[in-house]
Order: sequence, then C-alpha cells, then structure tokens
Amino acid sequence: MSNAWNPDSWRNHEALQQPNWPDQNALKTTFDNLSSYPPLVFAGEVRSLQRRLADVAQGKAFLLQGGDCAESFQQFRADSIRDKLKVLLQMAVILTYGLEKPVVKVGRIAGQFAKPRSSDTETKGSKTLPSFRGESVNAPDFTAAARIPDPDRLERAYFQSASTLNLLRAFTSGGFANLQEIHNWNQDFVRNSPQGQRYAQLAGQLSDAMRFMDIIGINPSTAPVLKEIEYFTSHEALILEYEQALTRVDSTTNDHYNCSAHLLWIGERTRQPDGAHVEFLRGVKNPLGCKIGPTATADDIITLCDRLNPDNEAGRLTLITRFGADKIADNLPKLIRGVEKEGRSVVWSCDPMHGNTFSSTSGLKTRDISNILGEIKQFFEIHQAEGTWPGGVHFELTGDNVTECVGGSHEVKEEHLPNRYETTCDPRLNAQQSLDICFMIAEVLSKQK
Ligand code: PEP
Ligand code: CO
Repeated sequence: MSNAWNPDSWRNHEALQQPNWPDQNALKTTFDNLSSYPPLVFAGEVRSLQRRLADVAQGKAFLLQGGDCAESFQQFRADSIRDKLKVLLQMAVILTYGLEKPVVKVGRIAGQFAKPRSSDTETKGSKTLPSFRGESVNAPDFTAAARIPDPDRLERAYFQSASTLNLLRAFTSGGFANLQEIHNWNQDFVRNSPQGQRYAQLAGQLSDAMRFMDIIGINPSTAPVLKEIEYFTSHEALILEYEQALTRVDSTTNDHYNCSAHLLWIGERTRQPDGAHVEFLRGVKNPLGCKIGPTATADDIITLCDRLNPDNEAGRLTLITRFGADKIADNLPKLIRGVEKEGRSVVWSCDPMHGNTFSSTSGLKTRDISNILGEIKQFFEIHQAEGTWPGGVHFELTGDNVTECVGGSHEVKEEHLPNRYETTCDPRLNAQQSLDICFMIAEVLSKQK
C-alpha cells in the first residue's frame, strides 16, 4: 500500500456506502462549488479540540458527544437547535459535577446528514426501493423519485450546517449558556421529574457550590468563563466527495484540515484499514473518532491506530465502542488490554445506542433506557477493573419531547412510541431521558468514589 497521502488518494481505495450518483457532471459541479465555499470551522478551533481530547486521553477530562442520528431538512428550526444545545449543556453540568472533571462538549450537529445502511434497499409491502441514505443524499419519502441521489442535497446540507453553526456560535458566546442558567434549567428538571427526589441531593450540592462561588465573587459577570461555552461539532465522515471538498490547507502549518466539522468519525461499516474512509481521514489533522463494534479484534484496533494515529498523539483518536449491553463484557476488556499492551494513546468513549436497537411490536425501531444504562455501567466498571479511564459517552438525543426510546423516569412505553416518533433514522433519547441518564451516571460514579 502506498503511503503517500493527498486529498484525492482515497479514490484509489474501495469506498463503501457511497451513493450511486446518477449524474456525474452534477456531482462534479457540486464538488467544485463546495470546494470554493468558505470553511465551516477553522484550524485553530480544531487544534483546541485536540488539546481537550488529549486531556481526556490522559484521564483529566471527559467527553460528551451527542445529537441527532441524522439531521433533517424538514425539522430545521431555531428552537430545535437551541433545545439540542440546551440538553447537552445540562448533561455536561451534571457530569462535570458527578465526575469532578471538565467535560468536553461535542455535538453530532451541523453536518450529521449522511447515513450508512445495512441494506441497499428497503421493502414495504410489495415495493422495493433504494434505501434512504440521509438528507444530504436522497429524501426519506418512500417513492422512487425521492430515493434518487441528488448532489444538490450536499450543497443544501452545507448551507444548513453553516446556518446551524451560526446559531450555535451565537448561543455559546452570547450569554445563553451562562452556568447559572443551565443550573436553573436542571433544577426545573429535578422539580418536574417523577424521580426528581433522587437527584435533589446532587442538585442541592451544585446549588451550594454555585452560591459559594457567587459569595467569593465568581459569577458570570466577573468570570466570563462561566458564560462562554466551548462547544465543538462532529459528524460521520461518510460521503467522501463532501469531506474532500471541504478540506483546506491551513496557511499557518501547511497541514490539511477537514473544515466541515471539528471532529470527524468513521462508522462501524466503513472502518476497513485499507478502505477509502481510513485513507482519507488519516491525512487530515482533525481529531478522529472510529466506531468499534463486536466484530473488532485487538489486532484490528492496533492496525487502525497505526493507520490513523501513527505518531501516537494523545487526543488524535477516539474509539467509540458500541457493543450492546449483552456484549460489552465479552468484548471491551480484550480490546483495552491489546491497546494497553502496545502503549497506544486513545480516548475510550461508550456509544450505548447502536448495539441496543430492537424492533418494537409496532415495528418501530427503539432502544430501552435500561439497556443503555446497562452498557454504560459496565463500561465504567470494566475501565475501573482494567485501570484505564472511561473517557466519554456518545448519545443520539434531541431536546424535543419525542417518544422514540422506551423507559426513563417518565416511563415511555412501547405503546407510546407512535405518539411522537420523528427521527429520520435511529431512535433518540428525549431531553428527560438524556438528563435521567446523566444523573444516573453521576449516582453510579459517586458510589464508585
Ligand atoms: C451512527 O452513529 O448513527 C451509526 C450509524 O453508528 P455505527 O457506525 O456505530 O453503526
Ligand atoms: Co444512529
């Protein structure tokens, strides 16, 4: 395998999960347009994220990553962006307090449009059509016309990402994310949650800490750090035409950065060491994630580390494990031991969503909070037993009050799923369920201390 990398070198490798674009000229036009548009993020921000993730790799911080499974062109509204940010910030405060560590906040947002699919086709009744591959490729409607890949959608995804990011930047620097506010939102949650009493003590301790800081003069007006939030974006780097078109050379270092998001990850279906996705991403300087499912061996992980992080830089590579509550105990320890034996620096993050999906009796895809929590608890226990740092968690969530996952303190049951089932791909936690999970993580951790 040739070691020379350039932004085009992925084209010499097999690229799985790429759309069958019917009009190559239209694709070329889109590629040229995207290549000429302004970057969405800049290299200095990307380097900051890598430094934060280096702290996570060294056990000094914790990573919280979350957002939609797939962003939607239809559900593109300011309040939905705001509420997604709000819930992630609320979760971060609970985790910061529970873990006694800074939490690095990364949204699955402003670019999370393309989806890998297990099957190329979808059948309903007697009709079989190409699968929906995310809004940046085709439309979710079940008609032949909707499912034709259209490169104009890549441009629409770019503009929606730019607009989303603009609002996120305004919120995170303009005072909306003031720590006192976030704490007040959490108190509301504790008051209104059926299981709120369980969390009252933790919330009370947080209030005491905030009051104490205020007394000694640390509040949002004296300490800007309390109202300015560092928030990063991420998505699965799936459609390589899009990812390449948004890759730029940083003028200060001459390195290539993928300026479509701060962090890019490789999905479980496209992590072949010789595949096009690994080839493309090894050449960009952004911190990278890689999903790791139950088929991965310790040798596979070391090969991926060799390809994606040959210099063994802390914070460069996050392994996002997604085994399922019933498989993590068999899989994670041997991978941790393999990585430790070779002295590789990685961030270990737990995606408790993708190994715990099942079909409800109504046929809707769902996930049960008890399995999600079960996988997270084992993730923490296994890392404690191995003497390694459980670096982070990765969720599919929304701030909207959807009914897509079952369980949680408001007890969403299988029969409630059709009430508000709005995801265009996988089932997400709603705001209540997301906060429940964080309070439960904080509870588990305070017992471990
Ligand atoms: C996802 O994160 O939505 C996804 C498709 O995950 P995975 O690659 O782990 O299956
Ligand atoms: Co998903």
